Amino acid sequence: MRVGFLHSLIRKDEKLLIAELRKRGDIELVFLDDRRLVFDLEARPEVDVVLERSINHSRAMHALRLYEGVGTRCVNAYEVARRCGDKILTAASLRDNEVPQPEARVAFTPESALVAIEELGYPVVLKPAVGSWGRLLSKVNDRDAAETILEHKSILGSYHHSIFFVQQYVEKRGRDIRAFVVGDECIAAIYRTSEHWITNTARGGRATNCPVTPALADIALRAAEAVGGGVLAVDLFESEGGLLVNEVNYTMEFRNSIDVTGVNIPERVVSYLMQAAR
Ligand SMILES: Nc1ncnc2c1ncn2[C@@H]1O[C@H](COP(=O)(O)OP(=O)(O)O)[C@@H](O)[C@H]1O
Ligand SMILES: [Mg+2]
Repeated sequence: MRVGFLHSLIRKDEKLLIAELRKRGDIELVFLDDRRLVFDLEARPEVDVVLERSINHSRAMHALRLYEGVGTRCVNAYEVARRCGDKILTAASLRDNEVPQPEARVAFTPESALVAIEELGYPVVLKPAVGSWGRLLSKVNDRDAAETILEHKSILGSYHHSIFFVQQYVEKRGRDIRAFVVGDECIAAIYRTSEHWITNTARGGRATNCPVTPALADIALRAAEAVGGGVLAVDLFESEGGLLVNEVNYTMEFRNSIDVTGVNIPERVVSYLMQAAR
């Protein structure tokens, strides 16, 4: 079987996946470096399946669309990447499928964004629709801060920053949960704990094992299904009213979660990929 490995920078996560793919005797690895690819709209890549590990959302999405267009199976699928890569589309998918999430508003001008923020009530979190690693997130505690951030975004920001995604701030006990879904199973989960309200491990959050309870597995699987399913990391908050899905990541990072959970995540991903390719 020929596996196309779509990538840009090879991080530790990619190295782990490559090592796992190389362990299997029946796999031939074909590296697809998104910095060097030239797509022909008609040509089919000579691979049986593509594993998408690009860092850049636009590149990933376009590449997946082009590969699927010529009949190549991709993990994750284009539609899944599209829905997960944009937090507003994720929120819409969760809403369509009645998956609990923090209360949110979407607005397209600084003026309407201020109305949205005040509708939700302080504190709120303002985030770019497309982005990751906790970058450019703002916790807005009062109207002064709201006006300042909105002004900065409208004067200094690109078009991206004129799409306002506002979420109610969830009191989350100093941590959130990341649940790993592979196909129809929630294989592991971690708590990400931090002194800072942003708990991403890329921002210093500490990973510890989180037991996969039936309630956690249920909501994680429902969230994964809502965006189309595949290999996904579902971020959740433990709110007073129960678990809420914050976002779903489609090129999931797992390097900090193997030792703490004791689950061989890359092995599970590669097994799923093999099944998908058949
Ligand atoms: N509405 C919120 N309430 C409380 N904390 C939040 C909220 N939104 C984000 N955070 C914190 O910020 C982190 C990053 O937010 P997230 O929406 O996952 O963006 P990113 O795609 O950059 O990871 C979350 O893991 C969480 O710790
Ligand atoms: Mg996140």
